[in-house]
Amino acid sequence: MLFHIETLGCQMNVLDSELASAALIEAGFALAPSREEADLVLFNTCSIRQHAEDKVYSALGRLKPWKTANPGKMIGVLGCMAQKDKESIFRRASHVDLVLGPGQLERLPGLVRDIFEARQATKVLSEEPRPPLQRLEISLDRARSGHEEVRESFRKFDPHRLPEVRENRFQAMVRIMFGCDKFCSYCIVPSVRGPEQSRDPREIEQEIRVLADQGCREITLIGQTVNSYRYKSGERTFRLPDLLETAAGVEGIRRIRFVTNYPKGMTNDLLQAVRDLPKVAPYFHVPAQSGSESVLKRMRRHYRPEEYFELLQRIRETVPGAAITSDFIVGFCGETEEEFLQTKTMVRTGRFKNSFIFKYSERPGTKAAELYSDDIPEEIKRRRNNELLEVQDEISLELNREFLGKTVEILVEGPSGKGESQLLGRTACDRIVAFDGPTELIGEFLSLEITAALPFTLLGTTSFEYKPERSVAH
Ligand code: 5AD
Ligand code: SF4
Repeated sequence: MLFHIETLGCQMNVLDSELASAALIEAGFALAPSREEADLVLFNTCSIRQHAEDKVYSALGRLKPWKTANPGKMIGVLGCMAQKDKESIFRRASHVDLVLGPGQLERLPGLVRDIFEARQATKVLSEEPRPPLQRLEISLDRARSGHEEVRESFRKFDPHRLPEVRENRFQAMVRIMFGCDKFCSYCIVPSVRGPEQSRDPREIEQEIRVLADQGCREITLIGQTVNSYRYKSGERTFRLPDLLETAAGVEGIRRIRFVTNYPKGMTNDLLQAVRDLPKVAPYFHVPAQSGSESVLKRMRRHYRPEEYFELLQRIRETVPGAAITSDFIVGFCGETEEEFLQTKTMVRTGRFKNSFIFKYSERPGTKAAELYSDDIPEEIKRRRNNELLEVQDEISLELNREFLGKTVEILVEGPSGKGESQLLGRTACDRIVAFDGPTELIGEFLSLEITAALPFTLLGTTSFEYKPERSVAH
């Protein structure tokens, strides 16, 4: 049986799709060469903004004629939208066979089999009650059940890692924690991804060793708020700096990243671990969301802009040359022009390597949706979004220009898609470098001299000797 999976949303979903594919392959399924040829089409969905959900519903709509023409095929909706919209997905798209929340992924192969068996059973006339042809499996609603019960209903999912289902063999993500307990007022994640749960550090280490044996050179430790990682084992509590040290001890791993961080709880020992462990990239993704104290309060972020600026200073003092990136939301409920200008000032003075900027999208079930009105008109959100991007692009270009003439070390990722021999690689600080070279270099670390700087890309040349050691600039 052939399957095809489409992924929307964040790195967590990219990893879930990889793991779901590995689990299906281990259970005897195979990847389809295209969506049309698949027997099972899966959408791994995102609920962070309305737009991500609209995309899935319209893709499902477009698949309806295909399903009608091929009634033997199956369509599954996985991920955050499955947990959020539950059985209403069947009402909006009656040709969907399976709705499976992110805390239930381990059941995917079994459920697909169950649905196929149920179909066979309906073909046989019998007195037995018929098994269901559509299945909904989601975790408990966080607002309606006890903490322990809810936690247990968001099951951990860590099947074997198969390099053939990853984009490449030399890079991989490793989940260190599930869920989120921060409850920022605008955010749906805590309700769809469930309570924060840190994985056992021994399991994480084992997984990194397996990945290294499979040829992986760069790992990214992922979680919604990785700096909240905490695992108690006997007398000892393991935290993110301990994990970084463990990961750095794995032979074969050359580069380690960790995303995403919450601005509070960026402890000095974490910054020092980044400074002291050469394999750990001096790269910090610490979303600020807003530069206005009153907006941050309405967002329930629990820090003030001054504290965020202090953090930037502390990172830069401890880890000189570190790249810092951020996320911002514009047009949050009641955001005045003055509040927006404070965010603009933060983007200008924060000197982020890059920022991801989003227009606020109201999410039903969140505190913001309950307490405030989504009152900023779309055209104002769009204008603020563009203004912020403009400021950020100027800063990104200025920071990229500092690399002119410098040597950087990159991991070569693949062809750029532009020009026959142009390849792309990434520095430890997540800067993309384009250069000319043979495809044999893909998966290799390489030193390049930077010859040109654009806001999102650097251009480099290999015209000098290759030095495998850690390079001077990140
Ligand atoms: N609307 C717009 N952006 C959002 N984000 C989270 N929730 C929303 C929302 N309701 C953004 C935040 C977060 C990033 C992953 O998505 O900036 O850091
Ligand atoms: Fe959402 Fe806030 Fe948790 Fe990030 S920290 S996932 S923005 S609730």
